[in-house]
Amino acid sequence: MRNEVLVKIKAVSLNYLDGIVANGSFNDKLEFPYIPASDGSGIVAEIGPDVTQWKIGDHVAIQYVQKWTKGAITKESNSIRVAWQTPGVMAEYVCIPEYGLVKSPGNLSFEEAATLPIAAVTAWHALINQAHLQLGQTVLTQGTGGVSLFALQIAQAAGARVIATTSSDEKAARLKQLGATAVINYNNYPDWHQQVLTLTNGEGVDITLDIAGTATIGQSLLSVKENGFVGTAGFITGTSLPLDIHAHKINMSFLRIQGLAVGSAESFTALNRAIEVADIHPVIDSVFTMEQVRDAYQLLERGKYFGKIVITVP
Ligand SMILES: NC(=O)c1ccc[n+]([C@@H]2O[C@H](COP(=O)([O-])OP(=O)(O)OC[C@H]3O[C@@H](n4cnc5c(N)ncnc54)[C@H](OP(=O)(O)O)[C@@H]3O)[C@@H](O)[C@H]2O)c1
Repeated sequence: MRNEVLVKIKAVSLNYLDGIVANGSFNDKLEFPYIPASDGSGIVAEIGPDVTQWKIGDHVAIQYVQKWTKGAITKESNSIRVAWQTPGVMAEYVCIPEYGLVKSPGNLSFEEAATLPIAAVTAWHALINQAHLQLGQTVLTQGTGGVSLFALQIAQAAGARVIATTSSDEKAARLKQLGATAVINYNNYPDWHQQVLTLTNGEGVDITLDIAGTATIGQSLLSVKENGFVGTAGFITGTSLPLDIHAHKINMSFLRIQGLAVGSAESFTALNRAIEVADIHPVIDSVFTMEQVRDAYQLLERGKYFGKIVITVP
């Protein structure tokens, strides 16, 4: 097509979503042949005659919600997601409309840039555009997946204090190394929101991104202070939200529950500027080759990773 860009993909990264697509629990009507993976980075190899934004050799990353170029989401801009309504990017070359790409941050490798499209843009859009994170606020991150580690890094760069939860003392130590001021092992403290209150003089945090859905949303709400922000990022333990307006202080504390579904290309571009200025480097657990894709998916399924899983494309 005249407005399309041919991108030589150099790296892709896996998300929680890729695991549930592969095991059939996300979409049991998946049509084959299917090309997986939504997150990727690469080099512009060719451009169509109407392309004005890109030139051959540019380093680009894939915009997941393809038509969401800027502003608030609309029905039209929400209509095309990579590896859902279009083929995925686990390929040597992909053809993408010019509006469906962003310039990769200059300080990142292809492997690092490939981790950004879903997890980092979700964390950025939630914290900066939706929650309007301010210097000096406190953010609670949950677990050590892609969204939460990017939330930690972005919150820190924005001058916020980070409290984190995780499942093991080993991961807790790594979170502290990354700069979390306090870490709660939720296996040791099933009522972890009480620990959050203790760590904040009984007040609660300003912002949290709920990662696990059914099992955690109530505690997420009880962890935030008045006017607090709870982004419903994930659904690892289920998609239904068992909430009570009074018990979870939704009305009395003027809490905000915000749905999240990644972000616009404008958000992604702003994120990339911040990544360059603050020299943020994504946390990568492992890098696999295309021959090792099965190993990469098995690692995703086992859940024994800290940060992103990346696959390089020859
Ligand atoms: N709404 C959106 O825009 C959006 C965008 C991206 C992802 N998501 C969703 O957000 C969730 C996380 O995605 P991701 O890609 O960041 O996942 P991920 O990289 O696969 O990481 C998942 C992490 O969640 C943590 N976890 C598991 N059970 C938990 C629990 N009960 N409480 C707290 N943490 C728990 C684990 O870390 P620990 O072992 O350290 O606890 C695990 O490593 C998924 O449901 C995904 O579909 C939503």
